[in-house]
Amino acid sequence: GTEYKKTLTMETLNPQVKAVEYAVRGPIVIKAGEIERYLQEGGKKPFTEVIKANIGDAHAMGQQPITFLRQVVALCTFPELLDSPSFPKDAKWRARRILQSCGGQSIGDFLLLWSYSASKGVDCIRQDIAAYIEQRDQGVPANWENIFLTTGASDGIVSILRLLVSGQAHARTGVMIPIPQYPLYSAAIAEMDAVQVNYYLDEDNCWALDVHELHRAYQTAKEHCQPRVLCIINPGNPTGQVQSKKCIKDVLHFAYEENLFVMADEVYQDNVYAPDCQFHSFKKVLYEMGPEYFNSVELASFHSSSKGYTGECGFRGGFMEIVNLDPEVKSQLVKMLSVRLCPPVTGQAAMDVIVNPPQPDEPSHGQFYKEKGLVLGALADKAKLTEHILNAVPGIKCNPVQGAMYAFPRIFIPPRAVEEAQALGMQPDMMYCLRLLEETGICVVPGSGFGQREGSYHFRMTILPSAEKLKVLLEKVHDFHIKFLNEYSALDEAQRSVS
Ligand SMILES: Cc1ncc(COP(=O)(O)O)c(C=O)c1O
Repeated sequence: GTEYKKTLTMETLNPQVKAVEYAVRGPIVIKAGEIERYLQEGGKKPFTEVIKANIGDAHAMGQQPITFLRQVVALCTFPELLDSPSFPKDAKWRARRILQSCGGQSIGDFLLLWSYSASKGVDCIRQDIAAYIEQRDQGVPANWENIFLTTGASDGIVSILRLLVSGQAHARTGVMIPIPQYPLYSAAIAEMDAVQVNYYLDEDNCWALDVHELHRAYQTAKEHCQPRVLCIINPGNPTGQVQSKKCIKDVLHFAYEENLFVMADEVYQDNVYAPDCQFHSFKKVLYEMGPEYFNSVELASFHSSSKGYTGECGFRGGFMEIVNLDPEVKSQLVKMLSVRLCPPVTGQAAMDVIVNPPQPDEPSHGQFYKEKGLVLGALADKAKLTEHILNAVPGIKCNPVQGAMYAFPRIFIPPRAVEEAQALGMQPDMMYCLRLLEETGICVVPGSGFGQREGSYHFRMTILPSAEKLKVLLEKVHDFHIKFLNEYSALDEAQRSVS
C-alpha cells in the first residue's frame, strides 16, 4: 500500500511554534548533556565533569531546600503526618489551614483529598499573599481579589500577554521588552505573533534602564505597530541589575503618558546582594507617585517560588497581582484561568510558605531564618566573587551582580574569530561558548540567546554552583579566554578594547 503520510510535519506545523527560540535549554545545553553521558560511559575529555551554569535552577546546582517549606508541603500531601511528632506545630498549623481551604473532602480528622482548587487559587493563600505584599510595600494596600495563583511566574506572564495581543498590521500589539531579556518574553511574543519592541539596557551604566531609550524604542515602534505593553525585569535576568526608585518612577511616568500596560517581572525580589541596592516594587512606587498614577496605570506584577532563597522550581508555584484592570477584562481573565482548571496545589502551598513564613513566636522561626540567611549570604558572596574574577580577565568586563542569579559579562571576541564563526554560519558567542564547553566542560549560554547590542558579545552564567565549583569554573573561564585570545594573537587588542 501507499506509505502513511503524517498530518503534522514541519510544513504543516504552526509557524509560530517554529519561530520560538529558548536559549537557556538550547544547543549548548544539549551538547553538554551529550558530553556528560560520554564521560559517564568512560569517555576521555580534558576535564572530568561538566559544570552547568546555564539555568537558574538552584536545587539542580545543589542548593538545599528550606526545611519548613518542605514540611508544610509534605503535611499537605500526606496528612497522616499531622500525627507525627517529628513535624513542628507551626508547619502543621499551616498545612491544616491550607487543607481546610482548598475544598477537599474530610475523612476522619483529616482532609485527605487534593482536589482542583479554585482557578484563581486557594482563597486563604491569596489572602496571605495580599498581607505579604502590604508588609513588603510598607503599608500600600493590596486587595486579595487582585491576586491570582499561577503555574510558576511563566504561566502568569503568558496569560497576561494573551489578553494584550490583538490587532492586525499597524494595529498589532507591540510588546516592549528589555534587551538583554529573559527569553520567555521573546518566545511568547513569537508564539503569539505579536511585535517585539526592543529597548536596550545601558551596559555602561550597570545595565540601568534609561527612559530616553524607552522613548526612542516606542517612537520607532509606533511606525509599524501599536505598542501596548511594557515589560520590565527587576532585578534583571540575565543582567543582574537592581533598578533604583528614581528609574522606576521614570518608567511608570512614561507608561502613564503613553498608556502602556506594565508587566513587572519581580521574581528576583528577594535576590538583592549589593549593599547600596534595594528592591522597590513597581506597585509601591506607583502608590508613592500619588492617586492620579496609582488609580490609573494598569500593572501586573509576578512572583515565583522558583527563585529567591527557596529555589523551588519544580513545584511551579507563582502568583500575579493586577491593579487597575478593567472589571470586564478581569472577568475574561478569570474565564481564561478557569479553562486551565487550577495551578498545582502543591505549588500554591509552597508559595504560601514564602509569603507566610514562621513568626518570631513560632517554633520554626529560628531554623527558617538561619537557612534563609545561609542561602542568601552564599549567593551574595558568589555574586562578588564572580564579578571580581571575571573582571581580572583581559578582554572580559562584568558589571556588578547587584541581584538575581546571573552574571552577563561582555567578552572581547577577536575580529578573526568573528569571521571564522560567520563562515561557520554561527553566532560568534555561540562558537565561543561551544569551544568553552568542549575544552573545559563549562556550560554557559551565549549572549545572543538573550539579545545584545550589535557587535557586542556576552555570555550568561549563573552564580548557583557551590563556591568551590564556581571558583573552578571562573578559573577555567580565565584560562580559556586567554588561550582563545592568544590563538588569534589578540591579547593586546583585548586589553585595549574592553578594559
Ligand atoms: C525573569 C524571569 N521571569 C520568570 C521566570 C520563570 O519562573 P517560573 O519558574 O516561576 O515560571 C524566570 C525563570 O528563570 C525568570 O528568570
